[in-house]
Amino acid sequence: MPYHRLGTAKYAGVGRPYRLHGLEPVEHRELALFVELGKDYAWTCESTAARSCAPDTGVQRRRSGMNNLLILVGSPRKQGNSALLTKTAEHAARQGGASVERIFLHDLAISPCDGCGLCRKSVDSPCVLDDDMTTLYVRLRAADAILIATPIYSYNMTAQTKLLLDRLYALGSAEGNALSGKRFGFVVVYGGANPFTSGAATAMRCLHDTFARKASWMRIVHGTAAEPRAAAKDPELMAAAAQLGADLVADSA
Ligand SMILES: Cc1cc2nc3c(=O)[nH]c(=O)nc-3n(C[C@H](O)[C@H](O)[C@H](O)COP(=O)(O)O)c2cc1C
Repeated sequence: MPYHRLGTAKYAGVGRPYRLHGLEPVEHRELALFVELGKDYAWTCESTAARSCAPDTGVQRRRSGMNNLLILVGSPRKQGNSALLTKTAEHAARQGGASVERIFLHDLAISPCDGCGLCRKSVDSPCVLDDDMTTLYVRLRAADAILIATPIYSYNMTAQTKLLLDRLYALGSAEGNALSGKRFGFVVVYGGANPFTSGAATAMRCLHDTFARKASWMRIVHGTAAEPRAAAKDPELMAAAAQLGADLVADSA
């Protein structure tokens, strides 16, 4: 990508290594979403930006050996849309030879971050809170790829998902982040007609900003699914979830 060439030169100019080579450009659908989001925030979005984005050729930059996928479901519903879409992604990832663990965050006891900051001394400094995040940190560190699914509740991600995100603070420090270089996928479902009226754009913006600098690859799949199994009647959404599971664990193409 041209911006990688430019980035390499700029970083070289200030004597720092360029670490973003694995970042993929956003897909057309995502780019259109961010253009719309920008309008909401009164940002100036040039329409040429969308046109200048390279079309999605389906070619992904893949690393070999991506075979350990951790799926974290932020919905309390075991038979809901997030459950269905992540099960679909899990199936596709297993077909690709990956080992997959799927965990419902609602089943775990996860306390809110208390902001003590003791975890930030190094990427290995543990969180002082003693709860189910202790074992989840081990799984997060071991995963090659991480898929987080959340429904929209009250115009944002669920509380279960937000608790997780806050507690991921413990995996970072000034020296780096234990999640850097991993592949990330997200599934966001909502009852509203579109990402803006539902609040999904807010959640997706938060997920993007939280993980974009850590991720070697990331993609957000989202769609309307109001009733608990509504996603099953949306073949495009189901296919996107399956493709996400496959791509998260794909070996180098
Ligand atoms: C407490 C609660 C709050 C919700 N808030 C919103 C909302 O703000 N916007 C929206 O589009 N849908 C909202 N919904 C609908 C859910 O996002 C939708 O039903 C989704 O499919 C649930 O996902 P799940 O089946 O994976 O649990 C809400 C649902 C619940 C139970």
